[in-house]
Amino acid sequence: MTRTLSMDQPDDRNRLDAMVQGVIGKPLDRLDGPAKVTGSALYAAEYAIDNCAEGVLVTATIAKGEVTAIDEASVLNMPGVIAVISNDRMTARAAQGGAGESPVRKVRQVAYRGQPIALVVAETFEQAREAAKRLQITYREDDDAVIDQHARALPTETSGEPTIQGNLDRAISEAAHAVDVTYTTECHNSAPMEPHASIAQWDGTTLTVHASLQMLKYNVKELADSMGLAPENVRLLSPYVGGGFGSKLGISADVAAASVAAIELGRPVRVVLSRQQVFQSVMRRSETTQRLRLAADSEGRLTGFGHEGRVSNLPGESFAEPVTQASEYLYPGENRTLRIDVARLNLLTAGSVRAPGEAVGMQALEGAMDELAVIIGIDPVELRLRNIPDRHPAKDIPYSSRPLAECLKTGAERFGWDVGPRRPCHTREGEWWIGTGMATATRVHNLNEAEARVTLYPDGTAAVASDMTDIGTGTYTILGQIAAEMLGLDIKDVLVRLGDSSFPPGSGSGGSWGAPSTGSAVFLACEGIRERLAKRLDCTDEELTLKDGFATVRGQSIALPDLLKGDEIEEVGHFKDGAISDSFSSAMYGAFFTEVAVNAYSGEVRVRRFTGAFVCGRVLNEKTAISQCMGGMVWGIGSALTEENIFDKRHGHIVNPDLAEYHIPVSLDVPHLDVVLVDERDPAASPLQAKGVGELGICGAAGAIGNAIHDACGVRLRSFPFTPDKII
Ligand code: MOS
Repeated sequence: MTRTLSMDQPDDRNRLDAMVQGVIGKPLDRLDGPAKVTGSALYAAEYAIDNCAEGVLVTATIAKGEVTAIDEASVLNMPGVIAVISNDRMTARAAQGGAGESPVRKVRQVAYRGQPIALVVAETFEQAREAAKRLQITYREDDDAVIDQHARALPTETSGEPTIQGNLDRAISEAAHAVDVTYTTECHNSAPMEPHASIAQWDGTTLTVHASLQMLKYNVKELADSMGLAPENVRLLSPYVGGGFGSKLGISADVAAASVAAIELGRPVRVVLSRQQVFQSVMRRSETTQRLRLAADSEGRLTGFGHEGRVSNLPGESFAEPVTQASEYLYPGENRTLRIDVARLNLLTAGSVRAPGEAVGMQALEGAMDELAVIIGIDPVELRLRNIPDRHPAKDIPYSSRPLAECLKTGAERFGWDVGPRRPCHTREGEWWIGTGMATATRVHNLNEAEARVTLYPDGTAAVASDMTDIGTGTYTILGQIAAEMLGLDIKDVLVRLGDSSFPPGSGSGGSWGAPSTGSAVFLACEGIRERLAKRLDCTDEELTLKDGFATVRGQSIALPDLLKGDEIEEVGHFKDGAISDSFSSAMYGAFFTEVAVNAYSGEVRVRRFTGAFVCGRVLNEKTAISQCMGGMVWGIGSALTEENIFDKRHGHIVNPDLAEYHIPVSLDVPHLDVVLVDERDPAASPLQAKGVGELGICGAAGAIGNAIHDACGVRLRSFPFTPDKII
């Protein structure tokens, strides 16, 4: 049976708190941990499949123009080469399905350098790679490619509807204190540890693909569309995903190319993107230019709030980095202007990278807030505390919860925040200037439709199944914990199976919605099972206690196998995001506090201490939640100090397309990260009272570091990343 709940109103039942197994929230180790660290967990490219051919992608070497010829003969007689699958033939397939946005673009038109053009298939990977290098492609190159993302004048379009209230210009000119500053951020790459990879198999009817993907229910549709197949004839398998960070939300070129090749050749084909191809051909986070205008009265209360961003994407792409997403609800100011313009560039597709919007939007906003605190001459924490609105400033709806003040106070106390106005250049240790900075964290709470199946077996063990993915976040573990708590089982007696599109469609992993959405589906299925158990015992669900494999009613206990009498109980939970998102503004909150040292001679910045206090509703697993926050803070260090994809201004080529040159923080760049979770129940968030947490730790983190640099040495930087050359 299926139990459905649409999140139309707050769910105050607080069912999980009434359970007694005591496993929810516990800092359990990840259930998938041993398989991953021993190497028995297979990733997409690692399946040993008989007769598997190897494909290597060939990508465009011009930024704009047309492929006029692909000389297949130039490689077909090379050793081991089986076929050249050109974009034309992939095109024919994609057109049949009428796909909206196939990642293998449908025409021979080249829109960016790095765009997949063809696939060379050979018996071995080395043979395919060599032939791919030698494949002769002729282009007609256009001379009007737009590749300088920093050019002042670029063709732009406005994304969505700007928010305009009152008169911001007047508020700024009449304000007791105002800032009008422009911050910039550079392109980022998700750079997941596991590159995008696929093995496609075709049996004449069904296409089965081992791939590394975040959102199987959508990915099945995308692939079916691209191949001209019915979705029921496509099966995707992603039981283990080595990181995604948004780059695996949609199918990448390897999935489509391997599938076309497998269908055409009638044998399995594997395609693994090189690290350079992950950088050049999958997607990027857009660079941003963000103008922040803040007007405050003499007490530091915001009267005007402006956040206007320019981001970029390829012509025709619908995504625009939503840098103003948090600015919509975070701070007050009756005079508001929020807008996003998208420049059209011939650079790799821009898409969702961890915390699209807030990740870079908050680092700019929190820098501007720090500047305002300096101008007013008040403590930056105090400035935030004075600007916590009671209701959503534009929509005039209530917040489902608004624990920002608690995060600010908890974080400040834990860190030992030196209260008062900042006094730059106050502390010097040898050649190092020392300073502290803080920032607010916030990320919108998203939900997504999800189904999960829970089966209680006659022996009293249970299984959870959903096409939900675990991209390294701890999904296997928290879904197991929810089922174990609801059914009164030891976590060892719950088997969680994920990442197979033949299982009920979960929410997928994205937008931090996985835990509250698929978690709620598991919860609903367990409620259905509890009801059926209660019926067998002639009691209500509320009277039924399930613990350690026993059901207890009115003082009488019975072991589950005795109660089940050989029967198996199966339920599907179906959770939907309902009307609640229109009646409440719901978000996760937090606060960052950091201490940095800035070298007076080299401009090198060392992050010496970093504290984050976060609220994400009910914590489902303290360890995995804290790990997510830490991961976000590490991204924050990278965003603040080192991460940027640099494009060659003449050819649109990424100059640093690998992890040797695209600098993410390594162990020595990261100090002890101190994360504290402030407990909360948010009944409007989900029936679990839980929200997401995966993206929260990055949202604003880089801003805190920039603010600490200013406090240390008096240099105000607005162009991320803050590399030594900009500080000196
Ligand atoms: Mo996330 S960038 O929505 O996977």
